[in-house]
Amino acid sequence: MSEEIKEIKTIGILTSGGDSPGMNAAIRAVVRVAAKNHIKVYGIRHGYHGLINDEIEEMETHSVSNIIQRGGTILKSARSKEFRTPEGRKKAYENIKKHNIDALVAIGGDGTFTGANILSQEYGINTVGIPGTIDNDIIGTDETIGYDTALNTALEAIDKIRDTADAHERMFLVEVMGRDAGFIALETSIAGGAELALLPEELTDIDDIKSQLKNMLKEQVRSSLIIVAEGDETGGAMKLAEKIRPDFVQYDMRVCILGHIQRGGSPTARDRVLASRLGAAAVKVLMEGHSAVMVGVVNNTLKITPLRVAVSKKKDLDYSLVDLAKILR
Ligand code: F6P
Repeated sequence: MSEEIKEIKTIGILTSGGDSPGMNAAIRAVVRVAAKNHIKVYGIRHGYHGLINDEIEEMETHSVSNIIQRGGTILKSARSKEFRTPEGRKKAYENIKKHNIDALVAIGGDGTFTGANILSQEYGINTVGIPGTIDNDIIGTDETIGYDTALNTALEAIDKIRDTADAHERMFLVEVMGRDAGFIALETSIAGGAELALLPEELTDIDDIKSQLKNMLKEQVRSSLIIVAEGDETGGAMKLAEKIRPDFVQYDMRVCILGHIQRGGSPTARDRVLASRLGAAAVKVLMEGHSAVMVGVVNNTLKITPLRVAVSKKKDLDYSLVDLAKILR
């Protein structure tokens, strides 16, 4: 908390990096809570790219009508190489000053937070991060906005794949998103009753996987589902299939990559409520004088974490769930 609290009169808001369902609900909450507190809001389109290129427009209560149920982000998202340079950030700062923006709300994942943190350090801009990523890999919050929706989207697909796998007595390798994090893979593997889950957080021993599958075959298992996180050591489901297929010629093996379908869609109720809470909290903490922090919900309680801490490490998987997944196979 700063010694002397500067009154916040104008907030800029952007979404950056991979979009996630519920970002619109968070934008809506920021705009509406700010309006109730007589704070002007500027929407910045295309993340930091738009901040550099002055894609900045005022938003009002009605600008966020009818968006709470929509996936994606009405502000659009982007990844900006230019913002990684001091010259790019200087242009961003000049636009912040041009519009008299006192504080910035940045919705996204660790890349987004790194950007907000640097702006605070270099130019003294008040910033607050709202965790929005389907990967759920941000510390300081039990769940990120979009994770619950992505999990349920992936699970719905997995249930359908199981039906056809069972009908044809096939082995399916299903790849879910998660370049660096196995949250979606782990929880869909438990909820979908998968036979195996391959996670980026764990070493993958191909021989061990083969022998586990062979044991299953002995036990008269006729169809099987293996969930592979895209960031698993093997390089994803396609690569894994290449490695194990020769040992399982009797199984009609298929690969299904769920891909970006997991990033879209209408947010679940949980994601809408989480996004609404965090959007409101972001405005509140800025009004209280906090800066370079993220807002999260831990044990159903709002929590503030410094951005530098939030970006310093990835959230650990719950290893009791990793064990449970193994027991239930
Ligand atoms: O949103 C997070 C994430 O889904 C990762 O799991 C994935 O690797 C990445 O985004 C892919 O994003 P893009 O296709 O936008 O580069």
